[in-house]
Amino acid sequence: MSDDSVVVTGGAGFIGSNLVDRLLDVGFRVTVIDDLSVGSMSNLECASKYGSQFAMVRQDITSAELLDVMEAVKPRYVFHLAAQAAVRHSMSDPMFDARVNILGSLNVIESSRRTGVERILYSASGGTLYGEPDPSRFPLTEVNKHQPLSNYGVSKRAVLDYLGAYRAIYGLEYVALALANVYGPRQDPHGESGVVSIFAGNLRSRQRCVIFGDGNQTRDFIFVADVVEAFIQALHAGDGEVVNISSSTETSVNELYWEIAKIVGSSLEPEFLAGRVGELGRSCLSNKKAREILGWKPQVSLSDGLGQVIDWISSQG
Ligand SMILES: NC(=O)c1ccc[n+]([C@@H]2O[C@H](COP(=O)([O-])OP(=O)(O)OC[C@H]3O[C@@H](n4cnc5c(N)ncnc54)[C@H](O)[C@@H]3O)[C@@H](O)[C@H]2O)c1
Repeated sequence: MSDDSVVVTGGAGFIGSNLVDRLLDVGFRVTVIDDLSVGSMSNLECASKYGSQFAMVRQDITSAELLDVMEAVKPRYVFHLAAQAAVRHSMSDPMFDARVNILGSLNVIESSRRTGVERILYSASGGTLYGEPDPSRFPLTEVNKHQPLSNYGVSKRAVLDYLGAYRAIYGLEYVALALANVYGPRQDPHGESGVVSIFAGNLRSRQRCVIFGDGNQTRDFIFVADVVEAFIQALHAGDGEVVNISSSTETSVNELYWEIAKIVGSSLEPEFLAGRVGELGRSCLSNKKAREILGWKPQVSLSDGLGQVIDWISSQG
């Protein structure tokens, strides 16, 4: 095991690739394990400039060969971000979702144990973990009951149990960051998630946006660079904990829409369609524990973060 060697599963994806850039910048040797099912090599263009400090292995986390890769790399830390990350896909194909998110994660955890990994940093889903509790409990702290209401929420949550068991049985340390709604550069504007990228992409090219429901549903938007810093802080704090990483602020989809419209100078009205079944009405996670345990707090305001997304989309041509 090398002291500065880390693996980032899902490192070619939106959050993972932003994390990879930061890890390389602070001097880690980074190996990305990603099957490129969603992520892309274009997200790793900056990373590729780091020469031998960076390696990319195209590998499915559910495969038996994952152990060979882990044995060759012998990382000290594993940032586990690879996942089937779409709630709707988890509802249309629950078996696939469970295979990647539960069996794939278990494969990552077991390979980590076998190769002497010191710590796993896991990207849990704060938006789905607590189901839909009474908004009088907002912002939701980590003591709220885990009661996910989607297959994706269930599969992401199941990994917390495995991490807890491996810690108790084998002493494999972990921190689970329960991420709110992450947005930022490299989020796929063509995908079904990432409402920020979708609105920003459409409004920039003067296309009408669709809002499902009345737009009063709220989300807790957190900028990707803030999430990356939380992962860095969690290298040395938060042992065995689930920690929300959030803005602790509720923003409605309508507010988000008009904030982006203002930045791009559009007055186009959105189109409202029927709300989607199973969509959360409101979401807001407390970040008190992250402040106390990780010494972390969000640094990027929504308007600054949205500005960075729009700059990034513009730079893509
Ligand atoms: N984006 C958010 O708002 C958010 C919120 C909470 C939690 N998360 C979690 O953060 C992580 C990263 O999310 P993201 O938004 O960057 O998603 P993403 O889809 O951009 O990244 C996921 C990456 O995992 C890879 N991957 C998928 N299946 C794989 C497999 N079987 N083997 C190897 N690689 C595989 C994909 O190619 C992709 O690069 C996920 O675990 C997701 O559940 C994201």
